[in-house]
Amino acid sequence: MELILKNVVKKYDNLEILKNININIKGKTGIAIIGPSGAGKSTLLRLLSKIEEPDSGEIFVNDHNLENTNPAEFYKQIGFVFQQHTLFPHLSVLRNITLVLEKVHKIEKLEANLIAMTLLEKFELQDHINKLCSQLSGGQSQRVSIVRSLAISPEIMFLDEPTSALDPVLTQEVLKTILQLREEKTNFVIVTHEILFAKKAADFIIFMEDGKIVEMGDVSILGEPQTPELKQYLSNVFVS
Ligand SMILES: Nc1ncnc2c1ncn2[C@@H]1O[C@H](COP(=O)(O)OP(=O)(O)O)[C@@H](O)[C@H]1O
Ligand SMILES: [Mg+2]
Repeated sequence: MELILKNVVKKYDNLEILKNININIKGKTGIAIIGPSGAGKSTLLRLLSKIEEPDSGEIFVNDHNLENTNPAEFYKQIGFVFQQHTLFPHLSVLRNITLVLEKVHKIEKLEANLIAMTLLEKFELQDHINKLCSQLSGGQSQRVSIVRSLAISPEIMFLDEPTSALDPVLTQEVLKTILQLREEKTNFVIVTHEILFAKKAADFIIFMEDGKIVEMGDVSILGEPQTPELKQYLSNVFVS
């Protein structure tokens, strides 16, 4: 994927939350955004997915110049998985997936079913196809959310701390699903606190603090951080 940001600023209530962000990434598949709470990670993800607009600066995602991209059209080409899943609780797992394919993407019912079933099997969710989403565990819900985003073959999947509401066992279950994305060469940008996972799944790391990118580069920066800030952050994450 290609992500280019030029002098991007985002303010809330006149307070600069993202302070002049510059990024130029080409040819990467998995990007992990890490950093302490309040750093601006979710805000950056919302700008990249055009859920929100910057106050100034330019954002290019693959061939899209986000400034003159129609949001509704763009949303059809990307996936987004939030901290809390957004499945319809009163609909079955299968219907949650086919509904979007049929209504938004105008795919025939038969074809939509086939796409959904194939993916649910691939991600080992076939036993839950007819369950209502309200009957799923937190981990299963997030995995279904990922499959639902994947069903439209998105150009890029954006995931904002998809495991932060889960216990350690369910977290591993969901992380395994995301690793599978990597194997399938699906482009993704994930905000995560799971550093070991980021090392395994990502091929590019962005470390943010206080609305700025402090350090970015390939995963080796997690082993050999160049800035005192990233060094400090990593030592706080891995308390012994
Ligand atoms: N909609 C909003 N209105 C006002 N302030 C916000 C809003 N969203 C985020 N912020 C503030 O912006 C900063 C960065 O938030 P966020 O991007 O959620 O950080 P992170 O995801 O790294 O924890 C925080 O100080 C947060 O309080
Ligand atoms: Mg966040």
